[in-house]
Amino acid sequence: MQKDNKSNGFQSGIGFILATAGSAIGLGNLWSFPYKTAKYGGAAFVFMYLISVLLIGIIVMFAEFHIGRRSKANPITCYKNTNKKMGFFGLFSVVIPFIIVCYYMILGGYTVRYTASSFIETDISTFSNNAGLVLIFTAIFVTLAVLVVMAGVKKGIENVSKVLMPALFIILIALAVYALFLGDGVKEGLDFYLNPKFDKLGFEGVLAAMSQSFFSLSLGMGIMVSYGSYAGKEIKVGKSMVMICVFDSLVALLAGLMIFPSAFHFDPNIDVKSLNGITLMFTILPQIFESLGGFGIVVSVFFFAMVVIAALTSVISLLEVVTQFVIQKFKAKRKKAILIVSIVCFLLSIPISISLGKALVGEEAMQIFGNNYLDFLDLITNVVLMPIGALGACIAVGYFLKDLKGKKAFNPKLLNETLKEEGLDLKKFGNIFAFMVKFITPLLIIFVEIFGIIDITFPKNELGNRVFSLNGLGTVLISVVIFVAIIIVYFFVFKDKETGYNRDEENS
Ligand code: PHE
Repeated sequence: MQKDNKSNGFQSGIGFILATAGSAIGLGNLWSFPYKTAKYGGAAFVFMYLISVLLIGIIVMFAEFHIGRRSKANPITCYKNTNKKMGFFGLFSVVIPFIIVCYYMILGGYTVRYTASSFIETDISTFSNNAGLVLIFTAIFVTLAVLVVMAGVKKGIENVSKVLMPALFIILIALAVYALFLGDGVKEGLDFYLNPKFDKLGFEGVLAAMSQSFFSLSLGMGIMVSYGSYAGKEIKVGKSMVMICVFDSLVALLAGLMIFPSAFHFDPNIDVKSLNGITLMFTILPQIFESLGGFGIVVSVFFFAMVVIAALTSVISLLEVVTQFVIQKFKAKRKKAILIVSIVCFLLSIPISISLGKALVGEEAMQIFGNNYLDFLDLITNVVLMPIGALGACIAVGYFLKDLKGKKAFNPKLLNETLKEEGLDLKKFGNIFAFMVKFITPLLIIFVEIFGIIDITFPKNELGNRVFSLNGLGTVLISVVIFVAIIIVYFFVFKDKETGYNRDEENS
C-alpha cells in the first residue's frame, strides 16, 4: 500500500527545528566557540561570529535545506536533480559526514566516560591511552546513536530530539546561572571571556569566526540537505532556519558564560592557554568539579550528560546522512544500512583513537603531517573541505536552478520567483537571499577557503612570522586528493545510475 509522504519524515515544525538544532549544537558550541571567543578578543569575536551566521551561515543553510526539500532524497540525488554535473557535490556531502563521524564518535565516547566517572577521579592520560577502555566507551556512545537512527526519522530522530534538546537547554541554563553566582572569579572570568578587544580579533579572528559558523551550523555537507529532504511543505522554512541559528548561537554563548566564571573561580591565576579544546573539557573542568566536593559530583554528572546529548544528536545527524544514502542507493533496509555504516565507522575510529591517546600524553607517534589523526581529519574537513561543500550548495541554488520554463533562473529576482514556486517562500527576504546566494556568500566562502589554505601552508612561527610548512602543504594536498577522488568516483560510478529517493524507503 502506498503510504503518504509524511510517513518517514518530520511530523512537526518543532520536531524538525529541534532535530536540526540537535545536529548544529554540538562540541563546536560547547568547547570550540568559548575558547575561540576568549582567544580572539571576546565580544569582538562574538560580533564577527554573528555577522558570519547572517552573511554565510543562514544563506547556506537555506540553500542546502532547499536542495533537500525539492527532491526529497539523499544528497547525491538532490544535487543531481539541480544539475547532473553538480551531483559530485552530493557525493561529497555524504563522504564528509562519513569522515567526521569516525573521529567525532571518539569524543562522544570520552564524554560518556566522563559522565560515568564523575564519581571517581579520571586522569585524561590514563584513560585516553587505554585503548580498550576508549573503545568500549566509543562503542556505548555509538550504539546509542545507532538505536536512534535505526528507529527512523520520525520515531527515532524527531522523538528523541524533542526530549533531549529541551533537557540540554535546561541543564545549560541551570549551570550557567550557577556559575554566575559562584562569587570570586566570576567578574574576571566574564571579563576574560567577553570584554571586546578588537585588536586581538585581527584577520585571523575574522577567519576563525567564519569557519566556526560552518562547523557549528553543520553546513557544507549533506546534513541540511538530508534533514531538509524529510521536511514536508507544512514546515515554515524561514522561521525554522532563523530559530535554529538563534538556538545554536545562544548555546555557544551560554557555554562560555558557564565555563569562564567557573575556571577563574577555581583558579584566579589560571593558565589561560590551557583553556582550550580537549584540555579544557577533560582536564580543567573535571578539576573544578572535584574542588566543589560532593555537590561537584552532581554538577559534573549534569554537565557531562549535557555534553553527551550535544555530541549524540550531532553524531545521529552525521550517521543519518550516510545511512539515508546507503538505504536508497542499495535498496537496503534501514536496520541493515545503519549497522553496516556504524560498524565501518567504528573500525576506522580505532586507529584514530589510539593516535589521539598518544598525542594526549605527548608522544609523537602515529601522526600524519605533524598532527594526530583526529586533529588532522578535523583540520582537513573543517578548513578545506566544508567550505567547498558550502560553496557547492550556493552554486547549485544560485546558478543551476531552472525556472518553470526550464531556463536557468539567471537573475536574483527570477531566482526568487523560482524558489517561491518551489515552496521556498521567504517573503521580503527572498530577493536578498537570491542576491546573497548568487554573489556575496560564495565570495565570502572563497575568501575563507583561500585564507584557510594559506594558514595551513604558511603557519605562524613563535615570532609571529609566517613560514612555509611542508606538513601544511601535505595536509592540503591530501584534501585535494580526497576532493578529486570524489569527483572521479562520481562521474564513473554514480552520475548515470539511479541513486534513489526517500519514497523508496517508505514504500519498501
Ligand atoms: N555542528 C556540530 C558542532 O557544533 C558539529 C557537526 C559538524 C555535526 C558537522 C554534524 C556535522 O559540534
